[in-house]
Amino acid sequence: MSRTYTRQPKPPPTFEEAKNTRQKVRSAGLHPDYWYPAEQSGALKKGEVKEITFWKRSIALFRGEDGQARAIENRCAHRQLKLTTGHVNGCNVVCPYHGWTYDGDGKVVDIPHTLFGKKFPKFRVPSVPVQEKYGLIWFWPGDPKLASQKDVPHIPVLEPGPDQWTCVPVDVTWKAHHSMIIDNVSDFTHAYLHKRFRPFTDAELLGYETVGDSVLLQYDTKVGTGPISGKFVNRKKIDTNHMKLGYEYPFQWSNTDDQIKHWLFVVPIDERTTRSFFLFCFKALQVPGLGMDIPKPLMGRFMRLANEIIVKPLLQEDGDAVEAEQEGWEAHWDAPLAELNPVVKEFQHLTIRKWEEYLATQSLTPLKKKPAADAGVEAGAGR
Ligand code: FES
Ligand SMILES: [Fe+2]
Repeated sequence: MSRTYTRQPKPPPTFEEAKNTRQKVRSAGLHPDYWYPAEQSGALKKGEVKEITFWKRSIALFRGEDGQARAIENRCAHRQLKLTTGHVNGCNVVCPYHGWTYDGDGKVVDIPHTLFGKKFPKFRVPSVPVQEKYGLIWFWPGDPKLASQKDVPHIPVLEPGPDQWTCVPVDVTWKAHHSMIIDNVSDFTHAYLHKRFRPFTDAELLGYETVGDSVLLQYDTKVGTGPISGKFVNRKKIDTNHMKLGYEYPFQWSNTDDQIKHWLFVVPIDERTTRSFFLFCFKALQVPGLGMDIPKPLMGRFMRLANEIIVKPLLQEDGDAVEAEQEGWEAHWDAPLAELNPVVKEFQHLTIRKWEEYLATQSLTPLKKKPAADAGVEAGAGR
């Protein structure tokens, strides 16, 4: 039964206050004990430092003169300035205020002023594990001790070698909760939004199941029939009437006939902001009208162009929609639930379950709080 609904005067509930699945999922974070993309490798040059944020925790990501990427908590142990307001010197990052200098482990290695007769102090901030793979810099925002227990998500088609597919990642930041983006990418009822690009049309959900920490689903749908994109897909070679998808926590993927694949990694900045890394991968694309594949050496250049004229405008449609959804959510978070696609609830249950798992680990092993005076001294004091 519908009821008239007026704008909520209060902000949406916190996870602890949430009363139903949607309120819970829209306030849940993502479990930090996974590898997440921090930046595209090419976007962090030697000598650069950039701020990345995971669920309100600011991290300084920098690349030293040796070419290696490093990350530490983005605050000076001295007066808590963001280290991203400073600069990289050699393989260290320097705070602009008094020049304290941090190595990649977060240790203060230089203080360029008097020590007032004291021994060189053991000040430090927590470091954040980092590695590079598939053209991305990955970081581990969770417990650093667990970082070696999991790998960066395996993307076989991007492993170096003769069979490597071409991929030019696209990353976007939208003012929307990460769960809205996960809902969006696997819920094909929103074909209506994409009337111009038609990435999928006439979708029929064939089935879905939750297996462990994954929701797997399949659609019968016409893939890539848009006016431009449709010309580059060789329908004689590729079955474009069927698509498999997965929300393999905390990321999402799709697969069309083992020929077209994509991965999406969402990085939650806060409850209403998410950075998303889309990796669209094609085994081959054809030269329109000629029936031959675009030569592999040209694929990178072609995909850079395709990103500009198809992928980014298409994603912009999703971005505009989820940002509007976020605004609608904040105004009407207590409106009656109205959802038809059963997979949406499945994604939401998984996100909630994993966030509860994370919260449970936090209450089992409460952080040992140091007295405020020592807060910057110990490794791992922040997490
Ligand atoms: S505030 Fe960073 S060196 Fe003093
Ligand atoms: Fe979409």
